[in-house]
Amino acid sequence: MTSFLNRILGTGKSTNRDYLAARLREQGLEVVLTREPGGTPLAEKIRELLLAPSDEAMDADTELLLVFAARAQHLAQVIRPALAKGAVVLCDRFTDATYAYQGGGRGLSVERIATLEQFVQGDLRPDLTLVFDLPVEVGLARAAARGRLDRFEQEGQAFFEAVRQAYLQRAQREPQRYSLLDAAQSLDMVQRDIDALLQGIVVRCRG
Ligand SMILES: Nc1ncnc2c1ncn2[C@@H]1O[C@H](COP(=O)(O)OP(=O)(O)O)[C@@H](O)[C@H]1O
Ligand SMILES: [Mg+2]
Repeated sequence: MTSFLNRILGTGKSTNRDYLAARLREQGLEVVLTREPGGTPLAEKIRELLLAPSDEAMDADTELLLVFAARAQHLAQVIRPALAKGAVVLCDRFTDATYAYQGGGRGLSVERIATLEQFVQGDLRPDLTLVFDLPVEVGLARAAARGRLDRFEQEGQAFFEAVRQAYLQRAQREPQRYSLLDAAQSLDMVQRDIDALLQGIVVRCRG
């Protein structure tokens, strides 16, 4: 399973997920595109709870449990069946985003997240995570330009700096499972970088 992650909206996850899907399909691979939080009707309802701004502050543990509740549903309904039939799953955000947002951003312990990861996923982990990295100011400006901000986008610079650092640390610690992409480049350049990774990705998908 390949999981696409970045820390803020507008860094090109969806655009490049679709680009990679097209390249993999050209190679004859069956590709299932999905996203988190969400990916099933019930999980999308949980996503709405997570993203909606509210007068009642959401406890960080509540947020964490909702993320994993949505993930359990997504795994059961979409991801595990797709993998069982031999498809490649390209997911816009996955558990690395939980370590980044709820761990780095909210300050929850890595151990607590790892316990839930094991509980919900068993030994299932992505084969590869692409991290689209962009300076926080650029991402926040793009999100603001897109209009109404969701509950996460309303967080400030310090929150997103912590999210970014969590992604970068995870990518550095396990370089064979992550590819770091410079999302400040033009889209053409980002996609040239993806092309350069393509043969390695195809080999993993066939493995
Ligand atoms: N490297 C890039 N440079 C400039 N614009 C980009 C780049 N990558 C994506 N975009 C544009 O930014 C917008 C948001 O991209 P999107 O893929 O939806 O990001 P995300 O899914 O991470 O929120 C789209 O209009 C897309 O065409
Ligand atoms: Mg997107």
